[in-house]
Amino acid sequence: MQPTLVFTLCLFFIAAAFATADYVRPQPRKTLEFPWNSKPASYPQQVHISLAGDNHMRISWITDDKSAPSVVKYGTSPGTYSSTAQGESTSYSYLFYNSGKIHHTVIGPLEPDTVYFYQCGNQGSEFQLKTPPAEFPVTFAVVGDLGQTGWTKSTLDHIDLCKYDIHLLPGDLSYADYVQRRWDTFGELVQPLASARPWMVTEGNHEKERILLFNDGFESYNARWKMPFKESGSSSNLYYSFEVAGTHVIMLGSYTDYDMYSDQYNWLKDDLSKVDREKTPWLLVLFHVPWYNSNEAHQGEGDWMMAAMEPLLHAASVDVVLSGHVHAYERSKRINKGKPDPCGAVHITIGDGGNKEGLARKYKNPQPEWSVFREASFGHGELKIANSTHAFWSWHRNDDDEPIKSDEVWITSLASSRCLAEKSHELRKILMAP
Ligand SMILES: [Fe+2]
Repeated sequence: MQPTLVFTLCLFFIAAAFATADYVRPQPRKTLEFPWNSKPASYPQQVHISLAGDNHMRISWITDDKSAPSVVKYGTSPGTYSSTAQGESTSYSYLFYNSGKIHHTVIGPLEPDTVYFYQCGNQGSEFQLKTPPAEFPVTFAVVGDLGQTGWTKSTLDHIDLCKYDIHLLPGDLSYADYVQRRWDTFGELVQPLASARPWMVTEGNHEKERILLFNDGFESYNARWKMPFKESGSSSNLYYSFEVAGTHVIMLGSYTDYDMYSDQYNWLKDDLSKVDREKTPWLLVLFHVPWYNSNEAHQGEGDWMMAAMEPLLHAASVDVVLSGHVHAYERSKRINKGKPDPCGAVHITIGDGGNKEGLARKYKNPQPEWSVFREASFGHGELKIANSTHAFWSWHRNDDDEPIKSDEVWITSLASSRCLAEKSHELRKILMAP
């Protein structure tokens, strides 16, 4: 081979290597179009499920027919329903929009880690769900700021490939942004996943649709996405908790009062006082606006909530805090009061579900000491809690429709460390304060 040819080939391969090493960020994708629903008025639409207290599940769906019954038949064999549950319904009006009949029916008691087949309102298709396990391991799929674009579809397709038990969503669901019909299309978009595994959500700014003094701002969200707030002693659908397989999960509200005199703060103290780390060694918290964020987007927006609530979460030895809002991914070291702290929580921003606003691409430089990994790409997270001491977190970037595992880390529980004992006095002091 001629030396010139060899040299040219070498240059070609070096250039090719650099070309593949550079990550080319994909372009935004359009908001999805949805054909008008032509099903009979009594057919269930927008079916989704959520945990509703010990061994129970809430089935939620909508019918155009206002006389359709709020009944769910279910059993462990397809087409054979050994149990029936009667639920409740609601509806709401928003300017010129009138919602369908929104049904919420709690079924159970259910066996753990079991597939159930169910039918809503004696009409339409049969659905199936799997209940979460009673013991470790348990896997959470996590993503916020979903919306309903081509990237949302890509994210949901990737989550569908993962073996998970529960979907956690730290706010900003539909991006309906006052257009109520977009809540309906979002419900249809997520139905294949949300009818099969519980979706546990909390509110973001895009759930707040307040028009002057005419409404409370969360009418649509509260009517459609009813969470187990009563089951967890909360007076508001905007904050609640639940327990599953050795894990206590607290869903907080970034857009309702959180100061130390607020209902939310006092409910949080009460909820934390009941957590038994022998029974639930893992303690997770979700809310929308991140407290630790080195992206230029939404800088400082979580500062007031952090000032009010971080001392309490730190004293309670929260393991992981998951938030959204910033349309990018970031993972911190264990941190408290702005500094790395082995007894602090790992903070993860995962607001990269695929919404219409696109990615938050600009980061503050230099990267803060507490920030371990950050990237502006669409994707989702998976938290597999293996046992009482170890959990595996991974972030999966949507890369031209291929799920790519881009960040991963083993996390050790604070319940298995000295932190719990060291902070017990601090926690008691905060919990006892008036
Ligand atoms: Fe947001």
